[in-house]
Amino acid sequence: MCGIVGILGGHEVAPILVEALKRLEYRGYDSAGIATVHDGVLERRRAVGKLVNLSDLLVHDPLQGKSGIGHTRWATHGAPSIDNAHPHRAGPVSVVHNGIIENFRELREELAAAGIQFVTETDTETVALLTQLYIEKGAQPVEAARKTLSRLDGAFALAFLFEGEEDLIVAARKGSPLAIGHGDGEMFVGSDAIALGPLTDRITYLEEGDSAVLTRTSLEIRNEAGEIANREMQTIRLDQTRVDKGGHKHFMAKEIAEQPTVIGEAIRHYLDNTGASVVLPDPGLDFTQIDRLTMVACGTAYYACFTAKYWFEQLAGIPVEVDVASEFRYREPPISKGTVALFVSQSGETADTLAALRYCEGKADKIVSVVNVPESSIARESDLVLPILAGTEIGVASTKAFTCQLTVLLMIALKAAAERGTMTAQEVADKLSALRMLPGVMNAALERESTLQAVSHNLSEARDILFLGRGVMYPLALEGALKLKEISYIHAEAYASGELKHGPIALVDEHVPVVVLAPRDSLFDKTISNMQEVMARNGKVLLITDAEGASQGGDGVWDTVVMPVVDPVLSPILYSIPAQLLAYHTAVAKGTDVDQPRNLAKSVTVE
Ligand code: G6P
Repeated sequence: MCGIVGILGGHEVAPILVEALKRLEYRGYDSAGIATVHDGVLERRRAVGKLVNLSDLLVHDPLQGKSGIGHTRWATHGAPSIDNAHPHRAGPVSVVHNGIIENFRELREELAAAGIQFVTETDTETVALLTQLYIEKGAQPVEAARKTLSRLDGAFALAFLFEGEEDLIVAARKGSPLAIGHGDGEMFVGSDAIALGPLTDRITYLEEGDSAVLTRTSLEIRNEAGEIANREMQTIRLDQTRVDKGGHKHFMAKEIAEQPTVIGEAIRHYLDNTGASVVLPDPGLDFTQIDRLTMVACGTAYYACFTAKYWFEQLAGIPVEVDVASEFRYREPPISKGTVALFVSQSGETADTLAALRYCEGKADKIVSVVNVPESSIARESDLVLPILAGTEIGVASTKAFTCQLTVLLMIALKAAAERGTMTAQEVADKLSALRMLPGVMNAALERESTLQAVSHNLSEARDILFLGRGVMYPLALEGALKLKEISYIHAEAYASGELKHGPIALVDEHVPVVVLAPRDSLFDKTISNMQEVMARNGKVLLITDAEGASQGGDGVWDTVVMPVVDPVLSPILYSIPAQLLAYHTAVAKGTDVDQPRNLAKSVTVE
C-alpha cells in the first residue's frame, strides 16, 4: 500500500528513484512522483497512473540532483490526481508517505485556523504543512520533522527532503515498514529491502516508533522516546531481492510455474532427517496443551486458514476458529486460556492482521505467525515464526504464497495430529510421503495448462461465474472465485455445494458457468448430486476432477479438466493450480492487467 524510497547518492538520482519505485509498484500504481534537491533547490515531478507515465514525464521534463525521494501511490484520501500525488510539498519541505494519518482532520483544522491553504485532499499534506510551520517558527529541518512526527496518530512510514539540504533525509516508521540501506558514501531508505536490492544488500530495519536521520555517511536512529537506538544491520541475500519475470509474460505466470519448486523447499524445511515427521523451529509448540486454535488473516491468506481449519479439526481434533482480521479485531472476541492464535500473512505487514495479532497479545497462550517475509512486523511480534519460503511474490494475485501457506499449515496439522495421538506415526509418515511426491504431481497438473487456457477463453465471455466445492474444497472454491474476480473483473462467487439450493441456485441459467472442484473423494457423490441440480437448470458445468471422477460424474457437463490423482488431504493444494490458471488465462483473454489489477495492491498496510 504505497511504496516510498529515498536516496542520498553519488549519481544523478532520478533514474535510480524510478528504478526503485518500479520494484515497489506492486504496492500501488494510482500515481507516482519524485522530488530532488539540486543546487539547494527542491523540485518535484508527478504523474497519474503507472510509473511509466512518470518515466515519460521525466524524459521531457528531467529532474537533476543526487538527493531525492519517491513514491508510488495506492489512493486512500483523495482521488488519483496530480494534486494528490506524492511527494507533497509545503515551502522548503517535501514528504512521501505510506499509511494513514488518522488525526489529519484535526491537524487540518488547526492549520486552517492559522490561515494555511490546502491544495490536496490528502492526509499527507498536513505533514508537509506542519513541518513547514515549525521551520517558519525557527526550527531546523530535523527538529521540525521530529516535532511534526510527535503530532501524528495512525500508521505511517515517512521520508522528508528539505530545500537547501543535499545531504539529509529524515525517515520515520510507525505501523508501516521501513528499511534503511547502507551504501559506500550513499544512504537509502525504502518500504522494503526489495526496493533497495540493486543498491545495497546491507539493511537496517526501523522498529516501531523509530525515526532516523540519514546523511551519506551517517545514520542516527532514535526510538519513540527520543533515545538513541542501536538497530542491527543485516546482510540480505541477493536472491531474496531479485525481481524478474524469468521469461514469463507476467509475474503471476512465473509464480504459478514456480510452485512445485518452492513447495518442495518448504516441505524439506519442515521435515526431519527421516522424512517421517515434522520439525518446527524453536521455541516450537506443545500441541497436547492446545485447547483451541484461533486463525486470523486477510484475503487469500484467510482462505489458507479456512482450508487449514478442516485439517486441524479432522486430523488433529483441535477446534479452530477462523476469521478475517478486519472483523476479528473489532469484534473483541474472548480468548480463553489454552488458545493459540495463529496469523497467516504473505507480506507480514497487513494492517488488520497486525492489529488482530496485537489484540491477542497477552490473551492467547502463544502468538504464531506463518509468513513469507521473516523480517516483517507480524513475524517480529510473534512468539513462533513459521516461514513459508515461497520467495518474493510480486503478482498482486497471490499464488505460490497461497500453496506454500497451505503446505506449511498442513505440516503443522500433521505434527499436531502426531503429538495428540489422533493419527498414528505410520499414518503421519504416509501423509508426509504423499506430500513429498506433491511437487511432481503439481508439475503434472501444470501440464494441463493448454486445456485450461482453452476453457478460460470461453469463461472470459461470461458475466457471472459460480464456484462450488464441498468439505476442504469449499475454501478453495472461495479462493478460485477471488482469484478470478480480482484479475479478470468477472463477477465470481463461491458456495459450499450443499448450500446452493438455499438461494444461490436462483442465479443459475444457461449463461452462468459453474466451476465444480470435485476430486473423487468421500464427498464426491454428494457434490455430483449438487452439480446435477445445476445442470437440470441449464447451468454450464466445468468439472475439475480426476480420471475416476470424470468417468463417474462427467456425463452432460459443459467441459471437464482431468487432474492427476492425489491423496485427498492434498487436493486443495493441487487443485489450486487449475483455479489459478483459469483466473490467469481468463484475465489474459480479457486483456486485463494481470499483475497489477485495477484498484488493488499487494501489501495492504492501511485499515
Ligand atoms: C491483499 C493482496 C492479497 C493478499 C491479502 C493479504 O489483498 O492483494 O493477495 O492475500 O492482501 O495479504 P497478506 O500479505 O497478509 O497475505
